[in-house]
Amino acid sequence: MASLNAPAPLLHQYHSLRSKVSPHLRQIYHYRPRTRRARAISLTAVVCFFLLLFSTRSSYQTTPDYFSKFPSYHPFAQSPEDSLVAVPEKLDVTENDTLPSNLQKSNPSFHVLIPAPHRSPALCRTVTSAMILNYPPPTLIGYTKTLPEATTEYEAMVDRITSIYNYLEHTRDVHDDDFILILDGHDFFFQLPPQVMIRRFQNTLKENNLKLRNKYGFATVEKQGHPGITEQVQKYTQRVLFGASKQCFPNMTMDAGCVTVPQSSLPPDAYGYKTDIHPDGHLTRPRWLNPSTVMGQVADLKIVYAQVLESVEQRRSKKADKKDYLALTQMYGRQEYVREMERRRTSNPLKEWLYQLIGISDASNTTGVYLTLEPGRRYEYGIGLDYKSTLFFNMFNSKHDVEWLPYNNISKTSSAQASHGVPRERRLLLPPDLAENIENPFIQPETDSEDTITPPYNQTIDALPNPKKRSWHNLPLLTNVHSSEVPALVHMDGDQSLRDLWWSKMWYHPWARALLRKYVRSPHGFSAAQDALLGGQVWWDMRGGRGGVWTDRGEWIDYPELCNGFERDVFDDGYGPWGKEAGASNAEPVYNQFGLLVKGKESPQGQENKGK
Ligand SMILES: *[C@@H]1O[C@H](CO)[C@@H](O)[C@H](O)[C@H]1NC(C)=O
Ligand SMILES: *[C@@H]1O[C@H](CO)[C@@H](O)[C@H](O)[C@H]1NC(C)=O
Ligand SMILES: *[C@@H]1O[C@H](CO)[C@@H](O)[C@H](O)[C@H]1NC(C)=O
Ligand SMILES: *[C@@H]1O[C@H](CO)[C@@H](O)[C@H](O)[C@H]1NC(C)=O
Ligand SMILES: *[C@@H]1O[C@H](CO)[C@@H](O)[C@H](O)[C@H]1NC(C)=O
Repeated sequence: MASLNAPAPLLHQYHSLRSKVSPHLRQIYHYRPRTRRARAISLTAVVCFFLLLFSTRSSYQTTPDYFSKFPSYHPFAQSPEDSLVAVPEKLDVTENDTLPSNLQKSNPSFHVLIPAPHRSPALCRTVTSAMILNYPPPTLIGYTKTLPEATTEYEAMVDRITSIYNYLEHTRDVHDDDFILILDGHDFFFQLPPQVMIRRFQNTLKENNLKLRNKYGFATVEKQGHPGITEQVQKYTQRVLFGASKQCFPNMTMDAGCVTVPQSSLPPDAYGYKTDIHPDGHLTRPRWLNPSTVMGQVADLKIVYAQVLESVEQRRSKKADKKDYLALTQMYGRQEYVREMERRRTSNPLKEWLYQLIGISDASNTTGVYLTLEPGRRYEYGIGLDYKSTLFFNMFNSKHDVEWLPYNNISKTSSAQASHGVPRERRLLLPPDLAENIENPFIQPETDSEDTITPPYNQTIDALPNPKKRSWHNLPLLTNVHSSEVPALVHMDGDQSLRDLWWSKMWYHPWARALLRKYVRSPHGFSAAQDALLGGQVWWDMRGGRGGVWTDRGEWIDYPELCNGFERDVFDDGYGPWGKEAGASNAEPVYNQFGLLVKGKESPQGQENKGK
């Protein structure tokens, strides 16, 4: 981050600061009270200041208290950032240790939901990248569900949102404190492992919640479940993270969701001198909610989706105009509007005026926004956005914002930002969360010689680079050069013609089949189940299963069933259908967390496990 030739950028910053300071302030800077008359004037000013301070203190008490008028509490007092989803070290359990039968997985699980009505090459790319990176097996929502023939796009959307909600609400293995990632769209490529994604989610919330604490402060409330006892709580927190978009909901200009929502956290010149003003929008900093990617705890997302359903029901129409996206945009806008009203109520008007004057006000823009707020209704959802694409990169209007950087090539990383016109360059380094503790993806799992390995190891198909020569340090990673972040997930919602090219540039693509076979081969059955029960990461969500996906009806679909025929789109390696590369049968058994068979034929090893 530190620049060696500091004077030049510093000078530049100073000048840009100078130019931003309003003329009023410059007068204040140059003003020196020297004479007696001047001192008298300044004394009068100070007296006026305090008079104003005390006179307003009584006046703003009469405006309504937005914090207590609208429910703002969250389902848990505990914040998601303190939750232990990613357990740091694996507990060492050997197969001979007996497992108490009543042992419960005590830490929250992590689930991935993908609404997907049918199989497609795009879905297979998403699922393949998730498996290679060891995400929990995704759950497909509404897969092959047949809706009545005359179903409109609106009705299909309501059905989709209802299914997501019902899955969160009514599934036995999904708990309120579990983490959930929902990919509602097409063409997602995972880039980084789930531990990294979860840690970044928690770190982003931690960072933003500190900012919200400083901006909105605390309130004294009655402790939940303890009448008569009060406690101090942070007024507003962030608990749900959506991806950010460079464009607000189309054709909406005067809604709080477009106007009142916070500015991007990227610097105002992140895209050069035309940042935010270029008419094409590709130089606009991401600021608005993108509905396709969201992460949060189940209880928080249930509140969000319940409200989306209520909003879309109110605006029934046959027109296919993304009512769920509209609802989310408006919910986010109203949340920010109410927060701003509460901030203004408790803020000092003189300070507001002064900060406005010198341009350092943190007030949200409410120009042209007129909302009627219903008392007692929830407007607070804890929604925040991932402006820097630390987790989610959305390609819409952003296809020129990325480079595939091998981080050991200093000449390449050091020239990347300059070639994109980023004004203040930072040294681009491999993200520290990848440099430490994340296993090299090319290390083959150790296998017992007794184990029957399926699929059997084949030197041609299973060839992986030497882990000593290939690692996160020299793999080309898609990097957002404007925010200097390597996103964990890439969403190809932009230029469709680039989908194949970008897929072929992802770090795992040259070895996709070998890496997927390695994933399918890695431990399953008994020892992995023990590990999951004891809080490990081999299985994230307790149902287990490897080499396939679940549906929201609890059915298991194995990889060939989902992806056969799409090998060219996914692997492009000429080895033919998955599971039949070297004449192998594809009836590999799949076990659940108790070592019981979910699908396929029992292998001798499986029977042995069951007996223990
Ligand atoms: C498990 O028990 C068997 C038989 O008692 C023994 O041979 C084997 O070494 C044990 N394995 C471990 C990992 O302790
Ligand atoms: C927005 O408005 C423009 C021009 O009025 C129109 O061409 C476009 O289709 C509209 N977009 C949507 C999503 O409604
Ligand atoms: C506030 O929003 C309005 C409407 O979008 C816009 O015209 C105005 O420039 C904004 N003001 C500021 C200070 O950003
Ligand atoms: C580093 O990248 C440059 C292109 O920017 C390339 O010419 C060079 O060969 C690369 N070096 C290594 C060691 O890969
Ligand atoms: C390994 O796979 C290749 C390519 O499918 C095949 O030609 C070869 O016979 C296989 N080797 C073994 C030992 O199965």
